[in-house]
Amino acid sequence: MKLSEVNFNFAQKINKGALLTVQDSCGRINTMTVSWGGCGILWGKEVCFIYVRPTRFTYKMCEDVCDFSLSFFKEGERKDTLSFCGTKSGRDHDKIKECNLSYKTDDGYVIFDDAEITIKVRKIYSDFIKEECFIDKNLLSNYKNNDFHKVYVCEIIDIQ
Ligand SMILES: Cc1cc2nc3c(=O)[nH]c(=O)nc-3n(C[C@H](O)[C@H](O)[C@H](O)COP(=O)(O)O)c2cc1C
Repeated sequence: MKLSEVNFNFAQKINKGALLTVQDSCGRINTMTVSWGGCGILWGKEVCFIYVRPTRFTYKMCEDVCDFSLSFFKEGERKDTLSFCGTKSGRDHDKIKECNLSYKTDDGYVIFDDAEITIKVRKIYSDFIKEECFIDKNLLSNYKNNDFHKVYVCEIIDIQ
C-alpha cells in the first residue's frame, strides 16, 4: 500500500519506537530502535526521513545498502524488544536472535512476523545534520559528542 492509502499515524507510532532493520551486502542483518523520523512528500515521491548517528553499528550498514525496513508493533507490544534494540549494539549482540524475532526476507527487506506495519524504504538522499546550520543553537545540546545524525531521505516502496 501507499502512504496515502493507509490509516496510520506515523508520528504517533514512531514516537513510541520502531525497528530500523538492514541486511547488508554480506547478508548480515541488524536492527536498532528509532523514534525520530517523519514522512511526507518530496520530489513527487512518498518518503520518510530517518536519522542515524554515525556511532551506531547500523550506520555502516545503512551506508552499505539502500534498502531498509521500518517495523512498527501494536501499541504496548514488544516493549522489551524496543528497549533492548535501543540500548544494545549489533557489534556485541545478535539482537534479532536474542529477542526471538522471527522474520522473512523479501528482496532484501526484513519483515518481522510480529510487526503490525512494515514500511519498505529505499534511500534516495542522505546528508549529515550540520552544526553551522542550526538556527536554534539550543538544539546543539543533542550533540555533546559531535555525533551529528545522518539523515536518510527514503522513498516508501511499500507499506504492509
Ligand atoms: C526509544 C529509542 C529511540 C532511539 N532512536 C534513535 C534514532 O532515531 N536514531 C539513532 O541514531 N539512535 C536511536 N536510538 C539509539 C539506538 O537505537 C541505539 O544506540 C542502538 O543500540 C544502536 O544499535 P546498533 O549499534 O546495533 O546500531 C534510540 C534508542 C531508543 C531506546
